[in-house]
Amino acid sequence: MSGKLLEMKGVTKQFPGVYALKGVDFELESGEVHALLGENGAGKSTLMKILNGIYDINEGNIFINGNEVQINGVKDARRFGISIIHQEISLVPYLSIAENIYLGREPLTKARFVDIKLMYENAQKFLDDFDLGLSAKTTVNQLTVAQQQMIEIIKAVSFHSKIIVMDEPTSSLTDKEVEFLFKTIRNLKEQGVGIVYISHRMNELFEITDRITVMRDGTYVGTVVTKETTNDKLIAMMVGRELTNYYVRDFSTTGETILKVNNLTRKGVIENASFELRKGEILGFSGLVGAGRSELMKCIFGLDSFEQGEIMVNGTKVNIKNPNDAIKNKIAYVTENRKEEGLFLTQSVKYNLTIKILQDFIKFLRVNFKYENNETNHYINELSIKTPSPEQEVGNLSGGNQQKVLISRWLATKPQVLILDEPTRGVDVGAKAEIYAIMNRLAKEGVSIIMISSELPEVINMSDRVAVMYKGKIQKILNKEDSDQETIMHYATGGN
Ligand SMILES: Nc1ncnc2c1ncn2[C@@H]1O[C@H](COP(=O)(O)OP(=O)(O)OP(=O)(O)O)[C@@H](O)[C@H]1O
Ligand SMILES: [Mg+2]
Repeated sequence: MSGKLLEMKGVTKQFPGVYALKGVDFELESGEVHALLGENGAGKSTLMKILNGIYDINEGNIFINGNEVQINGVKDARRFGISIIHQEISLVPYLSIAENIYLGREPLTKARFVDIKLMYENAQKFLDDFDLGLSAKTTVNQLTVAQQQMIEIIKAVSFHSKIIVMDEPTSSLTDKEVEFLFKTIRNLKEQGVGIVYISHRMNELFEITDRITVMRDGTYVGTVVTKETTNDKLIAMMVGRELTNYYVRDFSTTGETILKVNNLTRKGVIENASFELRKGEILGFSGLVGAGRSELMKCIFGLDSFEQGEIMVNGTKVNIKNPNDAIKNKIAYVTENRKEEGLFLTQSVKYNLTIKILQDFIKFLRVNFKYENNETNHYINELSIKTPSPEQEVGNLSGGNQQKVLISRWLATKPQVLILDEPTRGVDVGAKAEIYAIMNRLAKEGVSIIMISSELPEVINMSDRVAVMYKGKIQKILNKEDSDQETIMHYATGGN
């Protein structure tokens, strides 16, 4: 570490009805990885959006290399050598990878036309350096969430920034990809780049960061040297109390088969997938990104079609052609991609929460407002959704709280099969524990749950059995006693 790259002092930011930041201090040195830690809604993303000129500052000062600066807009931030990898992916889906990386700053030929050849060459070089096995010509909508996240990272690196903010860069990456990202971070460190690292995965903080600043409810709690602190100390700083009983799960014998999938095949994506899900069971789905877990669930939920195979619900073959058919069979699917497939960001919390049960609300051709309000308040309380009111636009909630709205919506449909795709992605430790407790309670009430998760400890601790996928196939289904980290990784990488 050598010299203060960045200093933010007394930063205050108010939104209508919400104090997002109250006098927050933050500093970053050259070559340092400095984590920002705090519960969902603590103000981490807001602080970093101010640094990146996305929000203006109400009060406070920002210094870069000791000089006070005003950051008015993203262009200013770029000029000061700052770039951000956003929590929510912000690539343009129908443009190519290269076009996304160079959007708005395409290399030009002497005649001032976009130098398409050079642009693709440069982008390809980055992709190859990162060993992604992708062509720069691929359009972004063909990529998985993890791949998109890697493109966001490449984009930030390609600006040759001095300060890079990574707002939950790993939330949809698996271990192997995280390792890769960390290699990149170590490289950047050596070049003197300062990195602000936001993550709810505590183990990552211990592996990659030098210091950690903790925030709570928009205030600054403190800064610690990573080597000198512990997991428990950090959690106590974060939530203001100790957290016991993290994974809550009362295992009991599971009941009869509720969902049965036989030899499901979708060409090039899923091959001969067969499994059973029992009453009150939590069946984990593990595998590397791209193994076909979400794709399989999309077939079951009627979002994608399949050529072969059958789906049985309660012993009867069902024909699921679209999500409505699935919902009629009491199957619910909480998607991993909350922005594109899940939430209506410009609508209220209430609207997003109740949309799937609107039929219930409309009695005698008028909306039953009372029921709608009751349901909304019930879930806001039960999942501790942090929002100033049920009328708040969902797009204004913090990332983790958006996730809770999405889960609540599907819980409100009272499903018998609940498919959760990366349910705790971007969710803080306290809220994670709440989600686990809810899953446990639902399983006890007889709901059958499928949980796709890239976090191995979560799959292992919460699941009755773990299905491991590899290249579109269910490679192995492990019983509780056999599902440890090594065994899962063995099958996830193609072992027999
Ligand atoms: N554009 C906005 N309009 C209104 N309120 C906002 C806006 N952006 C953020 N907020 C509010 O500011 C507070 C801080 O949100 P922020 O997104 O910074 O939290 P966070 O620490 O990044 O949380 P997470 O871990 O869930 O991502 C929250 O209460 C949030 O609802
Ligand atoms: Mg955030």
